Amino acid sequence: MVKTNLTVISNFIFLGFTHYPKVEITLFVLCLLIYLITLLGNIILISVSLLDSCLHKPMYLFLGNLSFLDIWYTSSTLTPMLANFVSGKNTIPFSGCVAQMYFSLAMGSTECVLLSMMAYDRYVAICNPLRYPIIMNKRVCVQIAAGSWATGCITALVETVSVLQLSLCGNRIINHFTCEILAVLRLICVDTSKVQLIMLVISVLLLPMPMLLICISYAFILSSILKISSVDGRSKAFSTCAAHLTVVVLFYGTALSMYLKPSAVGFQEIDKFMALVYAGLTPMMNPIIYSLRNKEVKVAVKKLLARSPLCPLSAQSSE
Ligand SMILES: *[C@@H]1O[C@H](CO)[C@@H](O)[C@H](O)[C@H]1NC(C)=O
Repeated sequence: MVKTNLTVISNFIFLGFTHYPKVEITLFVLCLLIYLITLLGNIILISVSLLDSCLHKPMYLFLGNLSFLDIWYTSSTLTPMLANFVSGKNTIPFSGCVAQMYFSLAMGSTECVLLSMMAYDRYVAICNPLRYPIIMNKRVCVQIAAGSWATGCITALVETVSVLQLSLCGNRIINHFTCEILAVLRLICVDTSKVQLIMLVISVLLLPMPMLLICISYAFILSSILKISSVDGRSKAFSTCAAHLTVVVLFYGTALSMYLKPSAVGFQEIDKFMALVYAGLTPMMNPIIYSLRNKEVKVAVKKLLARSPLCPLSAQSSE
């Protein structure tokens, strides 16, 4: 077999869901809908978190960051896929493939870190309410956000560059709908153990470790919520945390099942559908879960539409 450097390949071919002609059109419509809802929801959430001064609190600033990266994430995975559906050409240029791989890794990794930081933020807010404004001051928030972005972008760079060092043997057909790193690795015909070791180390750093932090934060949160004597206060604390926890379970559940499981060939088809959930559903659910259940966000959206600059008293005192 002739080995070719990965970097001299001009384009790749996606197999996508062509094995399932019956579901293809349904998937297209579903993905288009999901994509539009994701864009709309996240743009609204970013707008209110930036424009509404009542929402200039750590939780909403982090939420704005989460929405921002969700937009990048779905756009990098779903837009090329939708374009391919329309044009009927299932190809992607090499540079597009690398960009897609980098973006999905970078955004996914940043989300891992950011979600754990948001759990920490809730922990401080609920378990240490009096010192909360001091601990989570403006500088710390910016540091946390910048740190999450840096971690995600740097680890993704390391992974992408290490894949680019490898070579493949003429096979350009990717059994996936995006240039997801695991699907690209299956094309490689040289020894991939070094790259897999790098990926394992990064995955352990970015999945179980933030998850542990989230579990510890929520254990403390739960025990302190149970100590709140007023029913009203208890249910208020519970509802913000329940929203966050739903997002966490959805995100980490799919990410864990994709990246930290033995890579058996038989799972490839399940992987594709899993990736669709991960790329489409999670970013769409984030703004829905957070805003439909959150009074402050609802009030802010209404105010944005009515253009009134005042902070309602109920929203000010609810945190
Ligand atoms: C992201 O978080 C930082 C720090 O809290 C904040 O200054 C910035 O406005 C946020 N960005 C968005 C898009 O919400």
